[in-house]
Amino acid sequence: MVGSRLEGFSYAIRNVVAEAKKVEASGRQVTYLNIGDPVAFGFRTPPHLVDAVIRAMQDGANGYTPAAGIWVAREAVAASYCAAGLPVGPERVVLTSGTSEGIELALSVLVDSDDEVLIPVPTYPFYTATLTKLGARAVFYRTDASNGWMPDLEHIRSLIRPSTRAIVVIDPNNPTGAVYSTETRRALVELADENGLVILADEVYADLAYDAPVPPIGALNPDAPVISFSSISKAYQAPGWRAGWLAVSGGERLNAVLRAINELADGRLCSTGPMQHAILAALSGNNEHKATFVQALRERATITTRRLNAIDGISCVPPRAAFYAMPRIELPPGRTDEDYVIGLLRATGLLCVYGSGFGTSPGDGFLRIVFLAPPQELDAIYDAIADFTAHFRATA
Ligand SMILES: Cc1ncc(COP(=O)(O)O)c(C=O)c1O
Repeated sequence: MVGSRLEGFSYAIRNVVAEAKKVEASGRQVTYLNIGDPVAFGFRTPPHLVDAVIRAMQDGANGYTPAAGIWVAREAVAASYCAAGLPVGPERVVLTSGTSEGIELALSVLVDSDDEVLIPVPTYPFYTATLTKLGARAVFYRTDASNGWMPDLEHIRSLIRPSTRAIVVIDPNNPTGAVYSTETRRALVELADENGLVILADEVYADLAYDAPVPPIGALNPDAPVISFSSISKAYQAPGWRAGWLAVSGGERLNAVLRAINELADGRLCSTGPMQHAILAALSGNNEHKATFVQALRERATITTRRLNAIDGISCVPPRAAFYAMPRIELPPGRTDEDYVIGLLRATGLLCVYGSGFGTSPGDGFLRIVFLAPPQELDAIYDAIADFTAHFRATA
């Protein structure tokens, strides 16, 4: 009764939870370091966003909105892109149910079955999952831990074929915490432009880079075919509201794509109405919370890098944005990243996600840690990881 296309659909970030529930049922408390939700770690949605949603509901904004969203919020999104150097008008913005729905709309419009989309490895797994659902193919390009997790441009070039439709660029990156150099970003834009590929720019962590916000990649060339995706899930700490947007730059070249996205968007009626008012409040209001949040992330990243790199058999590229680290464990022969992660869960109650859930090889020994917990808790977490790692490597 279940369509065969879904056989390849998997989403490790949530799948590991099934194993955690078993551990909980056995009486051990589980610490969930598998999902990037700031609210779950005590960070609060800014009050002016909450007020905006309450006010919208009380004022009766509870009906369907236009499919692309309320105009004032689309204007606010467009203005934020313009301020960041990418001239785009509100008519090229669509409000979506989080970054996720934007990605799904764009992929649905761009690919036929068996078309190919270039995806980074490690990757945020929603891309592969969605392509599987659409019957299209994810083709993986390397990003290199020994080079700060930068994309391997030569590898990307070698993978482009007549059936390639798009390149996914996740910058700042989940799961690695990388921020790409301007050189790399420019090369990616040129590559896409020359080969007639669309850049699907996942920019949901743009405001959470520790040095400075990352401008939209489309700003490097507003005529290049780029679709940018973002939301208030991460930088505005409201992931449960499912409020995001996409913006289509690239001028006339992407007009047909924009039209098709709007047609598909018509079919799902609209994103959540009151939360569209939160987008307006977020992009036009006081955003002092962001500096505090970024400072908290920077502090946690420093602890994470220092503690992990001090453990025998673990190395970790310092994250430069967001709240994820992708350390590598030197695995004993024959063991996998999943063995390590499930072993860690059973022994300590700490739930991380194995790297192969993001597309790395099981034998490479990567895992992803969400480091949103408060500093003292992080110290206890890394104590437990150090103890378990010594044991795991000694008893192989
Ligand atoms: C790279 C990336 N893209 C998209 C999403 C989904 O975000 P949203 O809540 O806006 O759908 C996430 C969430 O973790 C993410 O890490």
